[in-house]
Amino acid sequence: MKDIFTAPFVEEMKKMTANMYRLGWDERNGGNISYMLENDLVAEYLDPTQVIRTIPIGFEAKSLVGKIFIVTGTGKYFKNVMDDPETNLGIIRIAEDGCTAELLWGYKDGGKFTSELPAHLMSHMARLSVDPDNRVVMHCHPTYTLAMNYVHELDEKKFTHTLWEMCTECIVVFPDGIGVLPWMLCGTNSIGEATAAKMKEFRLVVWGMHGIYGVGKNLDEAFGLIETVEKAAQIYMLTAHLPRINTIKDEELKELAEYFGVKYRKDFLNC
Ligand code: 13P
Ligand code: ZN
Repeated sequence: MKDIFTAPFVEEMKKMTANMYRLGWDERNGGNISYMLENDLVAEYLDPTQVIRTIPIGFEAKSLVGKIFIVTGTGKYFKNVMDDPETNLGIIRIAEDGCTAELLWGYKDGGKFTSELPAHLMSHMARLSVDPDNRVVMHCHPTYTLAMNYVHELDEKKFTHTLWEMCTECIVVFPDGIGVLPWMLCGTNSIGEATAAKMKEFRLVVWGMHGIYGVGKNLDEAFGLIETVEKAAQIYMLTAHLPRINTIKDEELKELAEYFGVKYRKDFLNC
């Protein structure tokens, strides 16, 4: 059996959480990540028959039975993952009943997975139904994206359109746009269900006045989506109070999307 502390997925989670912390997107215990792993790869590092303990998940994740995820712990700080991954992360497998998580490694201090597990697992189910390659769900509180929530209408078309205008790359990186939910109580099955419903259509979902979710086939892809939104939101917040002299026009956004051959939300443009 190989040493779990050298596993590529533990390394990736360490580096990603440290990077996100340094960007200021994950103050205190803010943010959470779930990453679906290959069972065969996990078996090189952990004995799959050794379940440390079981934890109820509070809903049914039938289509994820037998799937294994590495998940950040609830109340845990991203800044601490690097030095103590075994306390701040856990590896769970969804049990046969679909309602229980079997802990295979981690949460060493008796802790458990993120309080946002409903939004994560329900989003995994929703994304896998439209994209079988999806593996990662990432949540964080990026500063400018959050600031923008207070001064911009929380309307999917308007929010997406404003961000597309802020950087030339935006419509190419997230042509499918951004889903937006109003403020809702976090950590609940309800916000999980609402997020998952948006995830059938979008790879990015803003939680009004809370943060953002991004997904992808790997950590980089989910991170890159959020990073691009955050950069555009920063440009917006740096310029929103100033007279707008220049802008990327809708015809130019269309030209970009067509040149790069991306399937974009035509209904989010005004031309
Ligand atoms: P957890 O510490 O439970 O992951 O919660 C952090 C968070 O961002 C809640 O939305
Ligand atoms: Zn949050």
